[in-house]
Amino acid sequence: MTKIAIITGSSRTGRVTDRVSKWVANNAKQFADATILDLQDYPIPFLDEAVSPRFNPNRTPDEATAKWLKDLADYDAYVIVTPEYNRSMPGVLKNAVDVIGHELDDKPVALIGHGSTGGAQAVATLRLALPGIGAVALPQAVFLTQPVADIIDEDGNLSDELKKQTFGPETNLEMQLQTLVRYAKALKNL
Ligand SMILES: Cc1cc2nc3c(=O)[nH]c(=O)nc-3n(C[C@H](O)[C@H](O)[C@H](O)COP(=O)(O)O)c2cc1C
Repeated sequence: MTKIAIITGSSRTGRVTDRVSKWVANNAKQFADATILDLQDYPIPFLDEAVSPRFNPNRTPDEATAKWLKDLADYDAYVIVTPEYNRSMPGVLKNAVDVIGHELDDKPVALIGHGSTGGAQAVATLRLALPGIGAVALPQAVFLTQPVADIIDEDGNLSDELKKQTFGPETNLEMQLQTLVRYAKALKNL
């Protein structure tokens, strides 16, 4: 079974991104072995390495970064759930990407954005960053434009009203996850 890591891209107190991650995890269970990696559990310091992580075979990362890299390496595919902060991904998420060396090489990443414009610009900044670490972003993405707290409860259940929509978030997510698994299988041949 494809192993998927769902990355919770916000670590702030009172965040709602964890709800979106749970929603993704609940849905992903039908296709994959899905685990949430929450940036709140990885207090990664700002990148402070003399050599770029991808060009340094002798890295000596601090404990939190080392754990992040070790855990990340264990998956075939990823979902990054990102809010939009000032038209971009959160700084904590960008730093978590910047410390990555080769852990995501040739692996697919599905992008889920939320914010008043669905996190579209945060997703766009991830599309710029991910090729730098050798990862492959899926062509499509899922955008949640409504306030997350209004549509997803603390256990990751989407509201019944949205669940019923034929081309609503649930359908989009399911299609995205199915595509992610297909990409993971195809890219494994690399
Ligand atoms: C510092 C900050 C900046 C934000 N900037 C934007 C923005 O530029 N565009 C947008 O659509 N929403 C913006 N928002 C709203 C958040 O993207 C939205 O509320 C999101 O669901 C918050 O996720 P979180 O609670 O997990 O941090 C911002 C929120 C914060 C805290």
